[in-house]
Amino acid sequence: MKNLLITGAAGFIGSNFVHHMLAKYPGYKLVVFDKLTYAGRLENLKAAEGNPQFAFVRGDICDRAAVDGAIREHAIDTIVHFAAESHVDQSIHSPLVFTEANVTGTQVLLEAARQNKLERFHHISTDEVYGAIPAPNRSKEGDAFEPRSPYSASKAAAEHLVYAYHITYGLATTITRGSNNIGPFHYPEKAVPLFTTNAIDDLPLPIYGDGKQMRDYQYVGDHCEGIDLVLHKGVLGEAYNVGTGVETYNIDMAHKILAILGKPTSLITHVADRVGHDRRYALDVSKLKALGWVPRHTFDQALEATVKWFVENEWWWRPIKSGEFKAWYDKNYAAR
Ligand code: NAD
Ligand code: DAU
Repeated sequence: MKNLLITGAAGFIGSNFVHHMLAKYPGYKLVVFDKLTYAGRLENLKAAEGNPQFAFVRGDICDRAAVDGAIREHAIDTIVHFAAESHVDQSIHSPLVFTEANVTGTQVLLEAARQNKLERFHHISTDEVYGAIPAPNRSKEGDAFEPRSPYSASKAAAEHLVYAYHITYGLATTITRGSNNIGPFHYPEKAVPLFTTNAIDDLPLPIYGDGKQMRDYQYVGDHCEGIDLVLHKGVLGEAYNVGTGVETYNIDMAHKILAILGKPTSLITHVADRVGHDRRYALDVSKLKALGWVPRHTFDQALEATVKWFVENEWWWRPIKSGEFKAWYDKNYAAR
């Protein structure tokens, strides 16, 4: 493993992963392959610009010729696959886009990995493939998939293809299934950055339904360390859950953001629920911990670091929120 093609790394988690890997592995070359959708921001990779270990290729993972071109030009031996349409609410409005990017795109990459005889394919998946998990159950890696949104169904389908390529063609694959990430460069369509940036501007925090849905919010840097560990020590053909194993109610998360910022709780506004909203995700993370992984942040520490980053980096999120984002906000929230 020396030359890595990292798809979707102009987005939130991928860009954090690139910064983590550049700092830790001076012998690796990291080539970001990204279409730059609305969620892909070159600003996220600014700190890597000019680093001889780093290169950026603008391309679509559904475009096999572009993928092959990048693999050959940079002598790629490993793909780490983050690229996806990632927002559940967007998938409710435009489901076909998700099938194209997340399912077809993943299979194009798998074909390219197989035919170019790459050493390794690591796939970034999600805890949403397991579906809604009633308390006190926790999802283990061998559990059946029960995805319930167009987004999670597309991620489950992608995973099935990854496993099929491992079994059928002997492709050296691993998969990580992460819980909700929070941290720097999180696009403000997602709950934590939306609530934080709205609160900074004294705007309402739109809580879906009763706010009693539970998520395992983990710091993005901890997730990146988990991916790094599986990439280097994971068993081929296997999947690993990545999360803290501690869940929080959305309403409590919103209250904590307001408390950190010193804003009034009157900003909390209950709006119509997400259709098909999964009430709870909860992971059993013992398999990854057995490889030596320990998350460095509690939820409170992760949230504090995240809110602080948004307070200190208005240059990053203000242009997003004042631009094309407004159309999305109207589409998703006006009728709620
Ligand atoms: P993001 O939306 O912030 O970034 C996605 C990136 O993929 C963007 O840079 C976008 O331009 C790129 N992209 C989309 N379609 C593409 C295509 N056809 N070709 C090339 N590039 C394309 O997403 P994120 O939150 O960073 O999530 C990254 C991955 O992690 C996704 O696979 C997602 O399913 C998974 N995941 C996310 C979370 C989370 O909490 N955000 C948790 C678990 C798993
Ligand atoms: O669990 C992992 C998943 O986490 C990833 O696979 C997805 O890519 C990522 O987007 C995230 O999905 P969620 O739907 O859980 O994240 P989101 O930030 O959109 O919502 C978090 C919770 O907050 C969820 O229960 C819905 C709720 N919510 C969300 C928004 C945007 C609100 O109450 N109000 C909102 O405005």
